[in-house]
Amino acid sequence: MAHRIAPSILSADFARLGEEVKNVLAAGADMIHFDVMDNHYVPNLTIGPMVCEALRPHANKDGKPAIIDVHLMVKPVDRIIPDFAKAGANIISFHPEATEHIDRTLGLIREQGCKAGMVFNPATSLNLLDHVMDKVDLILIMSVNPGFGGQKFIPEALNKLREARKRIDAHKAAGGQDIWLEVDGGVKVDNIGAIGAAGADTFVAGSAIFGHQDYAGIIKSMRAELAKAGA
Ligand code: DX5
Ligand code: ZN
Repeated sequence: MAHRIAPSILSADFARLGEEVKNVLAAGADMIHFDVMDNHYVPNLTIGPMVCEALRPHANKDGKPAIIDVHLMVKPVDRIIPDFAKAGANIISFHPEATEHIDRTLGLIREQGCKAGMVFNPATSLNLLDHVMDKVDLILIMSVNPGFGGQKFIPEALNKLREARKRIDAHKAAGGQDIWLEVDGGVKVDNIGAIGAAGADTFVAGSAIFGHQDYAGIIKSMRAELAKAGA
C-alpha cells in the first residue's frame, strides 16, 4: 500500500511558515496538512484561506504543486469552502457535526474542484458514511479530540481504522472509487507501524515532525516503521 506522510503545520513555526512548508516537503513529506480552527467548533483559533493562498507557491514537490490537505474544524462549513478552493486547497475535509447537510457539503467541495473528506471524531460513528460513500474521497479518523496538537493517541482509533478499511475495500471491490484513509492525532514513530497495520494509508503528524530538528530523519524513521509492520 502507498503511504503518505502529511505533516500538520499546526506545530510548525508560524513566523516562518513558507520556509517550514518548503523544508518539510524537501525532507520527504508527501503533502501538507492545514488545520483550520475557529474558536467555536473547537476551542482554538488558527489560520484561514489567506494563509493557504500565501503558502500555495511555497508548497511544491518534485517541481509540481504539492497537495494541500485542508482540515476544517469550523462551524458552519459551506460558506468558507469556495474560499479555500480559490486559495489552492486540493483536499477539503469537514466534521459532519459542523454542517446541517452532509451530502450537500460533500457535493459543494467536489463542485469547487477539490477532493472531499469526512472527519470522524473519537465518538462519532462511521455509520454516517452509509449513504454517501460514492461522494467521499478521503475518510479522516481523529485519534485525539480536535483542537490542539501534541495530544496522546486514543487506542480505540485502531479499531475504527480497521472498520473504515473494511468499508473502503468493500466499496472498491464493488466497483467504487478510491478513498484515502487518513489518521490525525498523536501519530509518532513508535505507533505508526500499528496504525498502518490497522489500515491507514495517510498519516498526519504535527508535533512528532515539527518538534524535532531533523524532519528528514523522522519521516524516514516513520516509513521504516511502516515497512517493518508490513503495512
Ligand atoms: C488536531 C489537529 C491535528 C494536530 C495533530 O486537532 O487536527 O492535525 O495538528 O498534532 P499531533 O500530531 O501533534 O497530535
Ligand atoms: Zn488536523
